[in-house]
Amino acid sequence: MHAIGISTYGAPDVLAVVERPEPPTVPGHVRIRVTAAAVNPTDLMLRSGELAAYMSPFTPPFIPGMDASGHLEETGPGVTGFSVGDRVMAFVNPFTALGGAQAESISVPADQVVRVPESVPLVDAAGLPMNGLTAHQALGLLALPPGATLAVTGGAGALGGYAVQLARHRGLRVVADAYEADRALLTRLGADLVVTRGANPAETVAAYRRAVPDGADGLIDAAVLGEPALSAVRDGGGLVKCRPYDAPATRGIQVHQAFVVDHPGRAAALQELAALAERGVLTPRTAEVLPPSEVARAHRLLEEGGVRGRLIVAF
Ligand SMILES: NC(=O)c1ccc[n+]([C@@H]2O[C@H](COP(=O)([O-])OP(=O)(O)OC[C@H]3O[C@@H](n4cnc5c(N)ncnc54)[C@H](OP(=O)(O)O)[C@@H]3O)[C@@H](O)[C@H]2O)c1
Repeated sequence: MHAIGISTYGAPDVLAVVERPEPPTVPGHVRIRVTAAAVNPTDLMLRSGELAAYMSPFTPPFIPGMDASGHLEETGPGVTGFSVGDRVMAFVNPFTALGGAQAESISVPADQVVRVPESVPLVDAAGLPMNGLTAHQALGLLALPPGATLAVTGGAGALGGYAVQLARHRGLRVVADAYEADRALLTRLGADLVVTRGANPAETVAAYRRAVPDGADGLIDAAVLGEPALSAVRDGGGLVKCRPYDAPATRGIQVHQAFVVDHPGRAAALQELAALAERGVLTPRTAEVLPPSEVARAHRLLEEGGVRGRLIVAF
């Protein structure tokens, strides 16, 4: 079968379409014939070598990709609740010997797989599981009551967009930052208040503080503004980092780290995400669908910034 392979770390051109053996039958796993797999920022880090420590136990070529959609082609021993042919989407952990999502066929633990609602096109579904789970995890870490104010940086992005939609659905008051060109998108996603994105994190955070003078009850930092983001949070509030960075405890603010591979209860969370997608509460956003041979272009586009929605590789 074909897969996207990284045989050596480096610039996007190291990405290649490689030939790999079909994945084995594994107890507790299902095998999926992949229709599409999303390209996420983590793929860029895996490709550049930033995550080499996580990959050191495994043998290249490494297969990137953290979510996929397709048809279920086999259930491993011990798996119940799925049938061959089901339309499914999956969260995939690429930091394993089985590799990531960007392959024609993948083997995934059954608790990372859920049926795709009929109303959601299979290709678009590939962009939901990983970032949907991360938004779900971030909101769980903050545990804000309905009516509380949540700030979401990077709300125009894939993770931020789902965080806005999920937060609004849970009755939170959502404040997000955006360029003027993205203001309508953020409002459509459900932001109650959109502040203007500044030229740097300090300016953006100052805009949040003007809009919410006492500070937000919680903040999901999907733009990775870093330590300055703390200034947008009220005393005793909460902040979720979406990448590791130094954010020293200050003013009683609780700082959490989202790490989607550690999502507790992901099977139930995936069911919830699928049900919300069926109701149109969560809307997978596909920026462009590319063939595997163009995955290096997808990395370059994501690196440049300005992509709105997810780049999807169709197999
Ligand atoms: N911890 C985890 O488990 C986990 C899981 C999922 C994602 N993540 C991380 O979360 C981040 C977001 O992921 P994503 O898939 O949503 O990426 P994305 O689709 O590229 O979205 C990022 C958004 O942030 C905006 N942004 C970047 N720098 C900004 C700044 N200085 N000020 C304001 N906005 C800024 C981007 O705008 P432009 O395009 O205009 O730059 C874009 O709209 C990534 O760093 C990703 O690695 C972590």
